This record gives sequence, C-alpha cells and structure tokens, in this order.
Amino acid sequence: MSDHLTVVDHPLVQHKLSLMREKETSTAVFRQLLREISQFLAYEVTRGLEMTTKRIETPMEAMDAPVLAGRKLALISILRAGNGLLDGMLELIPSARVGFVGLYRDEETLKPVQYYFKVPDAMDERMVIAVDPMLATGNSSVAAIDLLKDAGAKNIRFLCLLAAPEGIARMKEAHPDVPIVTASVDSHLNDNGYIVPGLGDAGDRMFGTK
Ligand code: URA
Repeated sequence: MSDHLTVVDHPLVQHKLSLMREKETSTAVFRQLLREISQFLAYEVTRGLEMTTKRIETPMEAMDAPVLAGRKLALISILRAGNGLLDGMLELIPSARVGFVGLYRDEETLKPVQYYFKVPDAMDERMVIAVDPMLATGNSSVAAIDLLKDAGAKNIRFLCLLAAPEGIARMKEAHPDVPIVTASVDSHLNDNGYIVPGLGDAGDRMFGTK
C-alpha cells in the first residue's frame, strides 16, 4: 500500500474475488460479482473527490450540507473488459460522464493497438477514472492514460480488479501521478502476459466468449 497503490482488502471484496477466480464460476455469476466488486472499488477510488457545501433546510433547521464540487467525474472504460466494471460504478455514480478507449492487445507483441477513442469534454476539469479489470503488462493501461492526458486530463486514477507487479511497476514508471486502486496484487505474469494465479481472460469470462 502506498500513495500510488491502494489494495482494497475488504473481506467482502476478497471473498467475491475468490469466487470470480474459480474456473467453474458461470458467466452470469462472474458478471454479477464483478458488478458488486466494482462498487466497492468505486467507493475507494472516489475518496478524494472535492467537496463543497450547500445551504439546505432539513425538517428541523437549516444547515450547510456537504455536496460534491465541480464538474461531474469521467469514467473511462478501456474496451472491452472495462465495460464490466462500468455498469456497477454507474449505479453508484449515476451522473458520471462516460468515455471509451478501444485498445486491443496484439497477442504476438503484447503491444496495444488503438481502434476507438471518445471521451467527455472538459477533461482537464474532471476527476478521470480509467477502468480495466486486468493490469497485466501495463502496456495498454499506459497507452490509454497517454491518450487521456493528450485529451487534457490532469487528475487521473486507474481502477482495476487484479494487478500484476510488472504492470504496477510499468504504470508507476510511465505515470507516477496516476494512483492505482485494485482488489489484489497477484504473483506474476506468464509467458503469454496473463496474470497468475489471476482469473483467466476477463473479457471472455464476463461476455461468455472464447
Ligand atoms: N487480460 C486478461 O483478461 N487476463 C489476464 O490475465 C491478463 C490480461
């Protein structure tokens, strides 16, 4: 745990994550668990949101009540697996703006290739949360954050379900100003760039593809 990395070790998160890892877990259950965990992660990643106060009347008296300040935050899904985190987060933060970064991983070079980019306006005035369940090599995450910075984002956080030490190190080197929130730091990457013990291919598991 550091300023750069927060591991959400809440017992409910850890229990749900173990269920997700099991290879026999069905697509429907996997998806539901991801939705549930995403809300705990969203709670943690938004801790630093700026607050202001608003004068309100309760049935008892007037008070200066705390409310969120500034622009709506921007959730950026790194396609396609990021979408699995998005739904649950939007239940918690329904007014968030949403963007998409389309990157796929070339299975030979393991390097990211961009095919889509659409984000909200005024990125420089928003807290921007990039979401991708798996921080593996870090190549696509670093590339996505590069694109978000090019679009003006200054206050960026990265939210994932699982992280490999290699990906964390790569992100820290390329984007030391982007804090990472995750549910687990796993052991290592295998030769194909998959997280071990991990949970396999997150996109395939949440969408039922193979
Ligand atoms: N992407 C995945 O879906 N799983 C991994 O283990 C690594 C990258």
